[in-house]
Amino acid sequence: MDDMLVHGQPLNKDGTVSLSQSELDKIADKTAQSSSSSTTSSSTTSSSSSTTSSSSSTTSSQSPSLSPPSPSSQGLLRRRVHIDSELTVEVYELDDPSKLVHEWMESHSGADPFGTVYWPGSNLGLRLLKKRLSSIPPNANILVLGCGTGVEAIGAASLSPTFKVHALDLNPLALSLLSRAASSSSSLSSRITTERFDLTSNKPLPLEGVDVVLACDILYNQELAKEVGRRCYECLSLPKPPSLIVTDSQRFHGTDFLVEMNARLLVDNRQHENILWETERLTNITSSGILVPEDQVYDISVRYISV
Ligand SMILES: C[S@@+](CC[C@H](N)C(=O)[O-])C[C@H]1O[C@@H](n2cnc3c(N)ncnc32)[C@H](O)[C@@H]1O
Repeated sequence: MDDMLVHGQPLNKDGTVSLSQSELDKIADKTAQSSSSSTTSSSTTSSSSSTTSSSSSTTSSQSPSLSPPSPSSQGLLRRRVHIDSELTVEVYELDDPSKLVHEWMESHSGADPFGTVYWPGSNLGLRLLKKRLSSIPPNANILVLGCGTGVEAIGAASLSPTFKVHALDLNPLALSLLSRAASSSSSLSSRITTERFDLTSNKPLPLEGVDVVLACDILYNQELAKEVGRRCYECLSLPKPPSLIVTDSQRFHGTDFLVEMNARLLVDNRQHENILWETERLTNITSSGILVPEDQVYDISVRYISV
């Protein structure tokens, strides 16, 4: 059961609760306002680095019209996520997401706020990506589904100065946190784009030219898990499928995901063997509490597939 208690709280809500979009927009607007009061025009200057980057360089045309939150905005904290001895990724999180989470649990609609903190599945996703670096083309395009704060997106872009990363999420607040973190380096901000994208929609994924797809810790409600299964099938159905890395530290709905993906592959008579979970133990992982103020340190078994 210890595996279930990530961020100090079991998060299995089965998609029965949600935060209204207007509530999220209110929070995002507040953040954007406090950011724009400390910046001029559309460019964002990070006080913690000498790099000035245009926010448009980290957003695609479909990105939300949000400025990245200022590092000095109240309520943000900078988290250093240790991947291994060579790679540490810095992202911004909400200092205390508990209010948003409670509101989401009561309101039953809209994007959830879980992408406002870092999740350990992204840590494993990056480790797996790093392991297969030698088989990834030098100018790889990497697509991240449900990017949250952006650990796997920023980490992937950090692995090679020639990698390009496109990061998708439903929650504009998560996308703005990612943009804020990417803007600390012009090299990162010029190679990371974001897009507000609903994985449960019928819109095709932007898969053209994509070499690797990462989906980390986005199987935590049944509907979403099945939709991610459908999306992974969409990836594997391409004439030249991208590599696929899916991680699941929450272990609630991974079976729904796998059944959905494998059933579709079977109907399609694909030559893929039934794809099964493997497991990796991550130890001494520190991350935010989602409903408690304190950081959590834990050892956790994370499921993953790497196709
Ligand atoms: C638990 S967080 C994981 C974030 C990040 N991948 C990580 O591991 O740190 C799940 C993410 O999925 C996003 N998400 C939830 N439903 C979604 C949907 N229908 N379409 C796109 N993203 C979604 C959330 O906004 C959130 O950022």
